[in-house]
Amino acid sequence: MTKIKPQPGIMEIDLYVGGAAHVEGVSDVVKLSSNENPYGPSPEASSAARRASYELHRYPSTDHAQLRAAIGEIHDVDPDNVICGVGSDEVLQFIAQSYAGPGDEVIYTEHGFSMYPILAHACGATPVKVAEQNRVVDIDAILAACTDKTRIVFIANPANPTGTMIDLDACAQLAKGLPAGALLVLDGAYAEFEAGYDGGVSLVERSENVIMTRTFSKIYGLGGLRIGWGYAPRTIIDVLNRVRQPFNLSTVQLAAAEAALRDTSFTEKCRSDNERLRRWLATALEDLGVASDPSHTNFILARFADQDEADACDAYLKTQGLIVRKVAGYGLPNCLRITIGDESSCRRVAHAIGQFKRGET
Ligand SMILES: Cc1ncc(COP(=O)(O)O)c(C=O)c1O
Repeated sequence: MTKIKPQPGIMEIDLYVGGAAHVEGVSDVVKLSSNENPYGPSPEASSAARRASYELHRYPSTDHAQLRAAIGEIHDVDPDNVICGVGSDEVLQFIAQSYAGPGDEVIYTEHGFSMYPILAHACGATPVKVAEQNRVVDIDAILAACTDKTRIVFIANPANPTGTMIDLDACAQLAKGLPAGALLVLDGAYAEFEAGYDGGVSLVERSENVIMTRTFSKIYGLGGLRIGWGYAPRTIIDVLNRVRQPFNLSTVQLAAAEAALRDTSFTEKCRSDNERLRRWLATALEDLGVASDPSHTNFILARFADQDEADACDAYLKTQGLIVRKVAGYGLPNCLRITIGDESSCRRVAHAIGQFKRGET
């Protein structure tokens, strides 16, 4: 028997399963399983990445000052209270690693993003799953689940995979009710899809115990490049920076992210197209007898009669080259999560679900 053993919690981790990208034997495939931007990144971001590739022999900046300044300008936040990471996943990891350990509890919710329990286990803490109410985060249930061991509460707002959200007053009430020593993490990976929502910036600025995370992977179409950021009180940013590797972001990542941010008209076009097509698809599905909650994101959680129907629909969509996401692992076995693609993808998916519902398969 080997005496070489991993740290406590590591073997409890269920590996993260990403969205599928291929269907055996089908060539014209549309991937609607990872909430990616169907239009790709801003052309400005692609050009900036190409230009930065001429400087690959240079180390990148360690403090990300230029990107943080751009984030400050565009999102009206203090750049000194911003930290950048390899995707928002890395920022979430800094938070778990810095504030939770063996004996501590990390709260996430019933249908919450699957990285939260993974991050809790990875630092030896105990993940605690709290029930939602009809696929919406329930702050009373979270507060009731808090103990003197609670260190972190992770909430995605808007949430993945439900697409629902709670308002900022509810978030503020949650932050206020947490035990001393516990942090509220507002994961804003989808915040840009909700017009007028600041992702929690204003709450961070008036609280001591709130951190917001954001990503370049969704509306900015840079999932392949891996860039995210967090916003928190200075004392927390100072802690997180101590566990961050000095060169965690490359010159290419930094340049592309800054250019993407500054192309605000591209971002706005993506947001408004997403909103229009999301409304269209939700209505088309509703007309076919497939319900969904109002979504605040770039996907719809389509609800079927039961798991058998959801699985059969998923299998039929695959034969049509349409890859959506099964979410049984999120406690939603009768649902499929469908990313809002471009107009033709939305029409294709609605058409195929129509064929499936009418038995024309
Ligand atoms: C709710 C939520 N948070 C965080 C992430 C991680 O995003 P990133 O690509 O920035 O690591 C995702 C990605 O799907 C997500 O859905």
